[in-house]
Amino acid sequence: MPKTIIEPFRIKAVEPIRLTTAEQRRELLEAARLNVFKLHADDVLIDLLTDSGTGAMSANQWAAMMQGDESYAGAQSFFRLEKVIQRITGYPFFIPTHQGRAAERILFSVATKPGDVIPNNTHFDTTRANLEYGQAVAVDLVIPEGLQPQNTHPFKGNIDLERVEDLLKRDADRIPFGMITITNNSGGGQPVSLENIRAYSELLKRYDKPLILDVCRFAENAMFIKLREPGMENRTIESIVHEMFSYADGCTMSAKKDGMVNIGGFIALRDERWVEAARNLLILTEGFPTYGGLAGRDLDALAVGLEEVMQEDYLRYRLRTAEYLGQRLQETGIAIVQPPGGHAVYLDAKDFLPHLPKEQYPAWSLCNALYLQGGIRGVEIGSVMFGKRLDDGTETYHSMELVRLAFPRRVYTQSHFDYVAEVLCELKQNAKSVRGVRITKQTRFLRHFTAECDWA
Ligand code: F0G
Repeated sequence: MPKTIIEPFRIKAVEPIRLTTAEQRRELLEAARLNVFKLHADDVLIDLLTDSGTGAMSANQWAAMMQGDESYAGAQSFFRLEKVIQRITGYPFFIPTHQGRAAERILFSVATKPGDVIPNNTHFDTTRANLEYGQAVAVDLVIPEGLQPQNTHPFKGNIDLERVEDLLKRDADRIPFGMITITNNSGGGQPVSLENIRAYSELLKRYDKPLILDVCRFAENAMFIKLREPGMENRTIESIVHEMFSYADGCTMSAKKDGMVNIGGFIALRDERWVEAARNLLILTEGFPTYGGLAGRDLDALAVGLEEVMQEDYLRYRLRTAEYLGQRLQETGIAIVQPPGGHAVYLDAKDFLPHLPKEQYPAWSLCNALYLQGGIRGVEIGSVMFGKRLDDGTETYHSMELVRLAFPRRVYTQSHFDYVAEVLCELKQNAKSVRGVRITKQTRFLRHFTAECDWA
């Protein structure tokens, strides 16, 4: 058998991309107030800002879109998707939303109250923001290894059960449910083991608390379980996925990731307790319960995407892509979060730019430098995203300064990743010349999307 793991697809439609000059990129970035979120996408050569909603759909998904039933109420598309989600999750109740954060907002609005505490391995930024918006407290309890970029623990997304138990002992009355994010996006795209999900679920059960999974990247997590967890190597992805869901009571999902679609999300729940209230809120803010802010065709594309994402040759190629880029970077001495995640490689900006103090936002600065050097767009997962300016003007900082290079699904080929490796290698040689930034304008929530900066 040849050893090369190939992209398991042919390309039927292509989009041109174009390289700008270094001079143009400097002007464009300065016009964007040193915030890559504000760039026009056609000024970006390789866009690794996110793996969310940026994937290429398959011929089967496009075909399924033609079957879309655009009826306002009771569309066939809803029932087709409901069947797939019920089969995959084992949960009877399915509530479509326009994307993941809408699922979060709706679930949290009906299931939390001010002062509640919600543990997670690491809350994603929208998850944390939606909880905080409702005055609940989001607590991150990933295992200590999950915060050590060089540690090669196979399941760095695991939650620290001892600390969860301490929290439960101390604050059980304030905890409406526990959450766990698979894979742990904000902690490096690291997987959670089946064993950890099971033990977490049992612990919560002892305190009569439900478990809610954030399942944006459930299939990637399942593939990691297959590759890394003892005794799992001969199981099908579908059976691993099924077991993951079996330990929980519900989930929120951004279908823009492992749903293989450009828009969509959902809540799925095992019992009725939050369903009616969630559907009522859905009607108020998203749409009727059988479309939830999506078109019928979106629901059909998702029904197909959820099946395709569990194909093993796809997942093997998917995880190999991150591993391949990770190896190339390591060969040139670039520190990344180890081991590479499922959907992304995370650069350790503190290591890359040791001359920049945290007050100058090293990960944000590395993002800017990567664009200037080669037209590549990544995203900061550091103190602009997770830090805060407090009312007294002081600032909080995140423990890690990472730049995430996230891979759109089925979009870029190996030579694109070779280019990324080459650009980073060049940048590494000039790392000392990379300049830090200061924030000149920001919002209270999710400031990274709109922050304006100047050179420090
Ligand atoms: N949970 C996780 C773990 C996520 O990664 C995301 C989105 C969401 C929830 C929210 O979903 O975007 O559909 O509203 N992550 C994207 C990213 C934005 O780039 O990682 P959404």
